[in-house]
Amino acid sequence: KPTYLSDYRPPAHRVTHAELSFDLDPAATRVKARLHVERHPEREAAEPLVLDGEQLTLEAIAIDGQPLGEDEYAVDEHGLTVHRVPERFQLDTEVTIAPQENTALEGLYQSNGMYCTQCEAEGFRRITFYPDRPDVMATFSTTVIGDVEREPVLLANGNPVERGTLPGGRHFVTWEDPFPKPCYLFALVAGDLEKVEDRFTTASGREVTLQIWVEEENLDKTDHAMASLKRAMRWDEETYGREYDLDLFMIVAVNDFNMGAMENKGLNIFNSAAVLTHPHTATDAAFQRVEGIVAHEYFHNWSGNRVTCRDWFQLSLKEGFTVFRDQCFSADTNSAPVKRIQDVAFFRTAQFAEDAGPTAHPVRPDHYIEISNFYTLTIYEKGAEIVRMLRNLVGWEAFRSGSDRYFERFDGQAVTIEDFVDCMAEASGQDLSQFLRWYSQAGTPEIDAHGEYDYAECEYRLTLRQRTPATPDQPEKLPLHIPIRMGLVGTKSGEDLTLTLEGEQLGRDTVIHLREEEQTFVFSDVAEAPVPSLARGFSAPVKLRFPYGREDLAFLLANDSDGFNRWDAGQRLALLALDDLIAAHRNGVEKVMDPRVVEAFRSLLAQADTTDDKAVLAEMLTLPSEAYIAEQQPLVDVDAIHAARTFVKQSLALALRDDFLAVYEANRSDAPYAPEPEQIGARSLKNVALAYLVAIEDDAGIEHAQQQFAADHNMTDVRHALTLLTHSSRDDLSDPALRAFGEKWAHDPLVMDQWFSIQVTRPQSDALERVRFLMDHPAFSLKNPNRVRALVGAFAGQNRVNFHRPDGQGYQLLADVVIELNRLNPEIAARLITPLTRWQRFDEGRQELMKRELERIRAEELSPNVYEVVEKALAQ
Ligand code: ARG
Ligand code: ZN
Repeated sequence: KPTYLSDYRPPAHRVTHAELSFDLDPAATRVKARLHVERHPEREAAEPLVLDGEQLTLEAIAIDGQPLGEDEYAVDEHGLTVHRVPERFQLDTEVTIAPQENTALEGLYQSNGMYCTQCEAEGFRRITFYPDRPDVMATFSTTVIGDVEREPVLLANGNPVERGTLPGGRHFVTWEDPFPKPCYLFALVAGDLEKVEDRFTTASGREVTLQIWVEEENLDKTDHAMASLKRAMRWDEETYGREYDLDLFMIVAVNDFNMGAMENKGLNIFNSAAVLTHPHTATDAAFQRVEGIVAHEYFHNWSGNRVTCRDWFQLSLKEGFTVFRDQCFSADTNSAPVKRIQDVAFFRTAQFAEDAGPTAHPVRPDHYIEISNFYTLTIYEKGAEIVRMLRNLVGWEAFRSGSDRYFERFDGQAVTIEDFVDCMAEASGQDLSQFLRWYSQAGTPEIDAHGEYDYAECEYRLTLRQRTPATPDQPEKLPLHIPIRMGLVGTKSGEDLTLTLEGEQLGRDTVIHLREEEQTFVFSDVAEAPVPSLARGFSAPVKLRFPYGREDLAFLLANDSDGFNRWDAGQRLALLALDDLIAAHRNGVEKVMDPRVVEAFRSLLAQADTTDDKAVLAEMLTLPSEAYIAEQQPLVDVDAIHAARTFVKQSLALALRDDFLAVYEANRSDAPYAPEPEQIGARSLKNVALAYLVAIEDDAGIEHAQQQFAADHNMTDVRHALTLLTHSSRDDLSDPALRAFGEKWAHDPLVMDQWFSIQVTRPQSDALERVRFLMDHPAFSLKNPNRVRALVGAFAGQNRVNFHRPDGQGYQLLADVVIELNRLNPEIAARLITPLTRWQRFDEGRQELMKRELERIRAEELSPNVYEVVEKALAQ
């Protein structure tokens, strides 16, 4: 059942050109394919032609115009085999498929009556018989035939070259895509859509028409995506020298979509949640997410489409690189430190947990059962961290020149991760062979660091020891090449000291390279006792432990020249205090707040008037999430964590009530909403302050929250106020607000998703009953992935105290949904199981309950997606 990287062979037959025609019908769409096929020069003449195909009804088949007899081919559930074929030929097939029955949302399906496709990774085989693998690259010509009334708009990749009317109220459009591409980049859209249009002139003078296609009622929600697209196009020209290559670039918004978006050549298809924004319906975070995803998909035009992956094991070649590119783009257009803080906070919570769980896998896996299960945080985000390390290792100039080589050398080809790293090695002259282990070794490296200052010798000795814990299938680990960006902050001066290592002057902020299991770095001429600031900017995706005292952390929080590490020092300080409180809670001892944390927060709040980056300050004032705290515990006690964190929040609010109130009031504004860094920063700061005030049910705070909700100025403020009211213990605050919001937005599914999430993430004990109740709400549907994520996903993933109820009902509910989704949409079902797979992290009682639900799922007839995840989870 599994596919192995080591089994890779080039394709025996390749398609050079594909002519497709789709006669659309919900129950029986006719797909005619004429494939121009060639045998690989090194393959045997006797090799049969093997094409992938699933859930297709074959109506006709011919080679070079000659229909095949029954004994000349065979069809099974995986595809089509033609026993004998010439060296070069044209294959004609005709199949029928049923888009209206397609609830998996892979291949050609219907969403709100419109037709759309999702082919990555292996969806094209549900459209027609084809070698569905990324190393087969062909030019495509696509004719779409639809109903004039129901499908006035007919789109596919490339440029429209012909259109016309047909009998019976039908019409057609033919599209040609001149760039050879793998079939996973194929796309088709047909329906009653409206467009917003703009233009972009590329650096070399090409005039590009930009279109965003949406349902009519969403026409007023496209401005931000369009502006983001133009910024991204310019950025890629300026930063990577990459220009757009067709005359037309289209984005389509689709309501039912498994992921965020898809980079189909010239025709990007987006989850409507990842493209539509309006100040009244979308939060600042949503605006930023849309900007990042629009850029991500656009950047794929080079990193993914012009140069693509040889096989799906190389997925991170395009995803890691493209995530890195979109992160840098967002950092350049917003607050760079906040972007980094948010990305790392998310990474250290979710990716670290993945890397420590039963589905841990290398950034380049060596086997899989179902590739859709590998669109993971490890492939995407850890892959991006590796590319970021590469950039830092070789420096931007060599990195850019390596990137130029990569795009030039491999344009139009399907390549591997080594090809990419080789370009970087050539451009920089560096040996990156040890570095390559980052791609093959799963698990998060742990570094234990300690340092000693020798007053007499004026030396600082820093010892680093690395170890990567065993992961499934990988008991032994080798040492990695880990770049540690660092400084030594003088305790007297509060400044970065000049670093001298083995006689070499390295400046005040440098990168040291840990390559061995253990290494000691001796810094000389260190004039005063320092506190080390290590892994600045999160210079490597590792867990770094250093025995900092609380004074050290308070010192770094105040003095570190690296903004990221200042934030991290605050997080570490809070974590130490939280540790004590978690222990106190478990032992039934009275909880006492650490005054050092209060003082640290007091000085942070004092900077509110003068800081030039309020968004960073807001991050600094935010406590580590329950999920991140849990990551640090040997055994997760959800109740103790929740109680400890709530206690810290309330203690800070009580001690600093007036400061929070002043910050809130100083940062309110009536200016018209704009999703711009300065406004976003002020809103975040104000809203963080408000959260503290409401946490102690402060009268002024509650009044402000209610006013902010009622003022209805923008969704960022409204949603935040509604969350605070709903998560308070006062139903007299939450009920009226929820009712008003639910009535006002009943017509807008993306806003109703927020309404669902807010309710089911409340810490009160009725959250699970609310999930059950809301699953019957008319706005909910198990068939829509956004609804499922907003309701069930949010409950299981974010409401830790209630999902992990000791009676196991949270687990049961999740398993029930997974079992139903296993039939409807296996990809979403497999993703939804994640919280259950982490059972080893909990107490025995919960472990048993979680495993029981996993076993109940396993007893079903399972899709490969769910099977793979459940097997791994239970094999532990
Ligand atoms: N390539 C798309 C993106 O990152 C995601 C496609 C996901 N496909 C899937 N079957 N999960 O931008
Ligand atoms: Zn991507």
